Amino acid sequence: MEVAILGIPMDLGAGRRGVDMGASALRNARIKQHLQDLGHSVTDLGNIAVEIADTFNVLEQSGMVFLDPIYDACKRTYDTLMQLPEGVFPICMGGDHSVSMGTVAGCARGERTGLIWVDAHTDFNTPETSPTGNIHGMPVAHLCGIGHEKLLSIAGEWQIRPEDIVMIGIRSVDIEERRLIKEHGITVYTMREVDEKGISRIAAETMKKLGHLNRIHVSFDADGLDPTLAPGVGTPVEGGLTYREAHLLMELFADSGKVTSMDIVEVNPILDEKNRTAQVMVEMAGSLLGKRIL
Ligand code: ARG
Ligand code: MN
Ligand code: MN
Ligand code: MN
Repeated sequence: MEVAILGIPMDLGAGRRGVDMGASALRNARIKQHLQDLGHSVTDLGNIAVEIADTFNVLEQSGMVFLDPIYDACKRTYDTLMQLPEGVFPICMGGDHSVSMGTVAGCARGERTGLIWVDAHTDFNTPETSPTGNIHGMPVAHLCGIGHEKLLSIAGEWQIRPEDIVMIGIRSVDIEERRLIKEHGITVYTMREVDEKGISRIAAETMKKLGHLNRIHVSFDADGLDPTLAPGVGTPVEGGLTYREAHLLMELFADSGKVTSMDIVEVNPILDEKNRTAQVMVEMAGSLLGKRIL
């Protein structure tokens, strides 16, 4: 397969600095070589230009924190992905999860697309409901067409349909966000469902729901994993996916042959232990792109 990796070194959407180095950490963990070893032809497209938090007067930031530079970076990401030739599998390396307003839309290329959101959080806040003003807690709402006008314009007319979204690994949802998730009928597998059903049944149900679509994007937030496995994240939550659950999930999605693009986001090397969070996320990408034990 033709794979294109793209870095979006942005930490403007997160409450803690440092995820802008996530793409570097993934390259340092040899993401390109790892995928090449699986037989893929991999091109590194380099990084999207992103402004640096410190060049702004942070005291002026309130409400939608860093709205304008986040819009700019997401728009550039969207434009870059839209220009890729059809059939290429993009892997978008954040950056905080606000990058997904550009990546999911850009990978969708204007077509109906399924979205699998692997995360501790539902990231479905709007500017009105967000308790923090951090835009990385808002990308899914914006992809559904709810939120700030400027961010809604990133993808033009394109929107994701709420019924085409499946979230897995969820264990932290804000009160107002909970209401929005229910209102929009988003399919959510919380950690309770992971424990009760097992990850293989969840993977099967996900594919039953989305498998009829021509495109499926997997957006993988490193904080979906358990913090003992992935300590290098800014918003850790206890009780996440284990190494084996997450690998099996990626392997089962690979078997379906339906996934067409991926994000790896929220890797924060400053908070990490010797780059192990980036390493495990590279392994996740490998499993999603067909790595098998035998
Ligand atoms: N729900 C919280 C907020 O809105 C946390 C969001 C965390 N998101 C993430 N992509 N890590 O601020
Ligand atoms: Mn997230
Ligand atoms: Mn998260
Ligand atoms: Mn490996």
